[in-house]
Amino acid sequence: EYRRPVVSGNWKLNPMTSGEAKETLKLLAANQRALEESGKDIPEVILFPPYPFIPLASELLEGTTVAIGGQDCSLHDKGAFTGEVSVSQLASLGCNHLLVGHSERRTLFDETDVEVNKKVHLGLNAGLRVMICIGETEDEFNVNLADAVNEIQVKKALAGVTAAQMEDITIAYEPVWAIGTGKVCDAPTAQEVHSAVRRVLDELYPNTGVAGRTRILYGGSVTPESIDVIMREPDVDGVLVGGASLMADKFSRIIDFS
Ligand code: G3H
Repeated sequence: EYRRPVVSGNWKLNPMTSGEAKETLKLLAANQRALEESGKDIPEVILFPPYPFIPLASELLEGTTVAIGGQDCSLHDKGAFTGEVSVSQLASLGCNHLLVGHSERRTLFDETDVEVNKKVHLGLNAGLRVMICIGETEDEFNVNLADAVNEIQVKKALAGVTAAQMEDITIAYEPVWAIGTGKVCDAPTAQEVHSAVRRVLDELYPNTGVAGRTRILYGGSVTPESIDVIMREPDVDGVLVGGASLMADKFSRIIDFS
């Protein structure tokens, strides 16, 4: 089954200033325009900048096909919740996407599977396409618990999500031990995990075609050097890039994978 590849970039808490963000976005926009005009088959591209840079990203990437998303959202929609950002606010800024359950949120901010699931529904209800991050830790990987951990995370994140709503869901498999470490998961291992996740989707949504249509992305130390090999795996439908997405030229080279 054909699944259009996705290359997404998660800037996390970077860069430090709007001036730096502007420089990167300008370069990314110029690269992207050139790529789009080249007539090549290019993937869908999504950028998750920090909240304050979302308007700047929308403005500078206008006229390109790069879509913008929020890296997280509040569990609340409005009211006395100082410091929070809601899905409605993200949607009103032109975001079409929402990232949920990143391992940094789960680990550093104690986000639970129940909260991840609530955010999935908040995003879908706000009309956003939701990218759900899953992934095992190094200890879990070493004792062969990757599939079990990912299965639980997928099932809990998707509780109450219908087959029709799955059209707006993307899964990003990010082994925690490969994030920001330079230790990219080898392609055959990623393929095994991705196909196991697809089997879980088939179990959750039997006879619907959902498993075959849902895109499962890989994330963890993806670079222009590692992209081609990982994208050759049949169940790897794209990537979620952290560090390398902060450098426009590197990110564009990843987008232009072959
Ligand atoms: O969301 C992105 C991932 O956490 C990957 O980050 O490419 O810096 O390893 P990384």
